[in-house]
Amino acid sequence: EEGLHATKYPWEHEKLLKTFDHAALRRGFLVYREVCSSCHSLNRIPYRTLVGTMMTVDEAKALAEENEYDSEPNDEGDIEKRPGKLSDYIPAPYKNDEAARAANNGALPPDLSLMVKARHGGCNYIFSLLTGYPEEPPAGAVVPSGLNFNPYFPGTGIAMARVLYDGLVDYEDGTPATTSQMAKDVVEFLNWSAEPEMDQRKKMGWKVLAIGGTLFAISVWVKRHRWSTIK
Ligand code: HEM
Repeated sequence: EEGLHATKYPWEHEKLLKTFDHAALRRGFLVYREVCSSCHSLNRIPYRTLVGTMMTVDEAKALAEENEYDSEPNDEGDIEKRPGKLSDYIPAPYKNDEAARAANNGALPPDLSLMVKARHGGCNYIFSLLTGYPEEPPAGAVVPSGLNFNPYFPGTGIAMARVLYDGLVDYEDGTPATTSQMAKDVVEFLNWSAEPEMDQRKKMGWKVLAIGGTLFAISVWVKRHRWSTIK
């Protein structure tokens, strides 16, 4: 059974001439850390990729150091704990899938790194899902116990409850943290995590067009010049 079709929103970063809004990425990452990270991993993202896109080197280093990682085995073969480094990956909330399911009523909170690419509807779907929990299920809807009604989720019964509420986080840039603002920011952040190279790709595309276009114009001019005696 398919879920309700998500509304199509005019995402700025999806436009050909636009890159990611780095202030939005920074806010979205805060939402991931303060809300989603207690259940969802983001296991394709090392701290170093945050540098320059949403944090300074010092901020990313400090964040990495908040977590402990296993060291390389020393001469005796012992593994010790060491503070995180920029090359480490953002840690998962649970040891393994069994622990994740045990904490979530049997349901597995999927890794969010590629979620924007993995789900039909991408950004629109995730935004609709996060903001689409009604106060009450509609009359007549059958919601199995332990599940929550969300019309956008295929089957409409989802193990994840509503997580975003107005004012849940404090944005340091003063942006009001409404439910829809947080949903928009975290979705944009999750689009970045799924394609961190998007900005580079778009910029490169314009260079290719500019240089390619110039070379083509020159070649047309040269050809006309060369063949002009025969005409
Ligand atoms: C599923 C996003 C917070 C628990 C999902 C899915 C997405 C998502 C995109 C996949 C839905 C699908 O399969 O189509 C987020 C975001 C969060 C967040 C962006 C933060 C803003 C949380 C939190 C918890 C949680 C805090 C735990 C308390 C789950 C579970 C599922 C799930 C258990 C599996 C649902 C099912 O298969 O029925 N989430 N989530 N999520 N999430 Fe979250």
